Amino acid sequence: KQLTSYRAWLQYQPILNQDYISDIKAQFSKISVADENEIISSCITELSVALKEMVGFTPVVDYQHTHKVGLHLTINKALPEEAYQLNESQKVLRLSGGSSRALLYGTFHLLRLIQRQAQLSDLNITEQPKNPVRMINHWDDMDGSVERGYAGRSFFYEDYQFIQDRQRIQDYARLLSSVGINALTINNVNVHQKETELITDTYLKEVSQTSDIFNQYGITMYLSINYAAPIEIGGLNTADPLDEGVKRFWQDTVANVYQAVPRLGGFLVKADSENRPGPFTYGRNHAEGANMLAEAIKPFGGKVIWRCFVYDCKQDWRDRKTDRARAAYDHFMPLDGQFADNVILQIKNGPMDFQVREPVSPLIGGLAKTNQFLEFQIAQEYLGQQRHLVYLIPQWKEVLEFDTYAKGEGTKVKDVVSGEVFNNKVAGIVAVSNVGRDYNWTGHTFAQLNLYGYGRLIWNPDLTAEEIALEWIEQTFGLNKSVVDAIGAMVMPSWQAYENYTSPLGIGWMVNVNHHYGPNIDGYEYMAWGTYHFADRDGLGVDRTIKSGTGYIGQYHEANSKYYEELESCPDELLLFFHHVPYTYQLKSGKTVIQHIYDTHFKGVEQVEAMIKIWNEVSEHIDEQRHHDVKARLEHQLWSAKEWRDIINTYFYRKSGIADQHNRTIY
Ligand code: GCU
Repeated sequence: KQLTSYRAWLQYQPILNQDYISDIKAQFSKISVADENEIISSCITELSVALKEMVGFTPVVDYQHTHKVGLHLTINKALPEEAYQLNESQKVLRLSGGSSRALLYGTFHLLRLIQRQAQLSDLNITEQPKNPVRMINHWDDMDGSVERGYAGRSFFYEDYQFIQDRQRIQDYARLLSSVGINALTINNVNVHQKETELITDTYLKEVSQTSDIFNQYGITMYLSINYAAPIEIGGLNTADPLDEGVKRFWQDTVANVYQAVPRLGGFLVKADSENRPGPFTYGRNHAEGANMLAEAIKPFGGKVIWRCFVYDCKQDWRDRKTDRARAAYDHFMPLDGQFADNVILQIKNGPMDFQVREPVSPLIGGLAKTNQFLEFQIAQEYLGQQRHLVYLIPQWKEVLEFDTYAKGEGTKVKDVVSGEVFNNKVAGIVAVSNVGRDYNWTGHTFAQLNLYGYGRLIWNPDLTAEEIALEWIEQTFGLNKSVVDAIGAMVMPSWQAYENYTSPLGIGWMVNVNHHYGPNIDGYEYMAWGTYHFADRDGLGVDRTIKSGTGYIGQYHEANSKYYEELESCPDELLLFFHHVPYTYQLKSGKTVIQHIYDTHFKGVEQVEAMIKIWNEVSEHIDEQRHHDVKARLEHQLWSAKEWRDIINTYFYRKSGIADQHNRTIY
């Protein structure tokens, strides 16, 4: 039997309530299906396995569709492709979907209801995902490591080979499709030498087998490619997108790839970024670079996803006008409208790099004539690396609810990235994965919630963070109310707690260089690869105003640029992202900046102490392995939070010379 932790939220624990069991047995005694294909087979397998485990019986499956009772699965082409309906009346439960994939989503919905022991009589549900593309990006390398991976090694590769045992990939596909994910890439955006060959015969057979596994669960696979592939594997001396030889290389390569992997979604490209090659090398712009690939892949229905994480990573601290935050917008905004219609620009949620608090990238709401994906990071690179408990959905909800003012008030990010505001041909959300070969997938058991929540949130951004957490807790830990409440009380304030004991007021960074774990206030301050806080004896913060700073604020639509530009309106939590102020500057909360730093750092540690107390109180209701592991991580988190608190408080006390009003211990 598989470990509880490995099952994640697909627990299917035996149900003890006899009345509920008899209802389910009656409702699922027969399953009739109108169509047969691999995705519908997955529906049947899921239902059979889950019902067996939860209520102890295996339903009879009828492909002739003759039964008058039980569950009926039908495709209804009148529904949108990924939409489904669930109805119950007169002992017949009907699941109809616009496609087989929609039926799979509806199947998992039903199972979720049963796991939570919801009544199915008089069911009347219609669901349709808000975002057409709901994607995961893996940063797995073929040596078996995972860039920014905090949950063990890759389960796709080891030693430059695909791992032959595919069970884990299959189980992963189930987890993803149970929360509505419909696309993924399986290799790192930084495509090194061996990975460049993923698009060659060396690996195509296994690429294709992997793609087949995901297809069974309605998930379309993509590959990250190396822009310099024409040189590295094509024997050419250039990768110039306007060179005829380069164009031919890509046309031939793409034709060969699609012959082997006909259902491949397309390519993801990180170009001209962090030392990766790209069109800039040849004096071409990104539209020229992307469109050349798009043209090659178009005959096969493929897409080119092009990342906007393009910036000059070498900075000079004397130059106060160059600003990494500006880079994506400066590079891509002038090209709006020039990209082919099968190109999608992939934009990180903030202008820097997945910090605990950043404003929303102004490219979202800026680009009006270009397909775009919003990019989140489920891996907690800067958020405690899956050793700290940090629930990310509250952060992502703030991003999605942000008003861009692109078409006046009420043009929220969630409506822009779903493609509704600008009528994009392709649209959606992607995120960097947080899974690996660890026994529980995510290192920290609670990090499973971020993967679960990501899928649920981008399916329906109107779900609240509380609702999502509740669903996950009940499926993962059962329905005992005291346990459910306790875990809810741990996860809900966790993002804010992390922000409290780490970097204050939107300034970000202050982490150790390269690996990005633990405090190092000046780590990036005195490096060529500069991200700055500019703290001195008088104050801190980055002046990004239009009037005296880098001008970054000018990239927003007017209502937002005014809001951030003026100290009076700029919100406290982003103050130091936008302004350089004295330590004695008074926040809207009434506190000075320096007192805010002290107070939040003491409070953050207390919040972690509170989590530990709650977790200890529920120990008897949780299996030993999960309890023990989470406890060990929480204790480490407390140690780390204290390290952050003490280093930050001491640093700013020494810089400012201003004492804590409450005389607490500052080293
Ligand atoms: C971050 C991260 C890198 C990654 C990069 C990216 O900078 O630290 O490991 O390659 O983002 O998103 O491309």
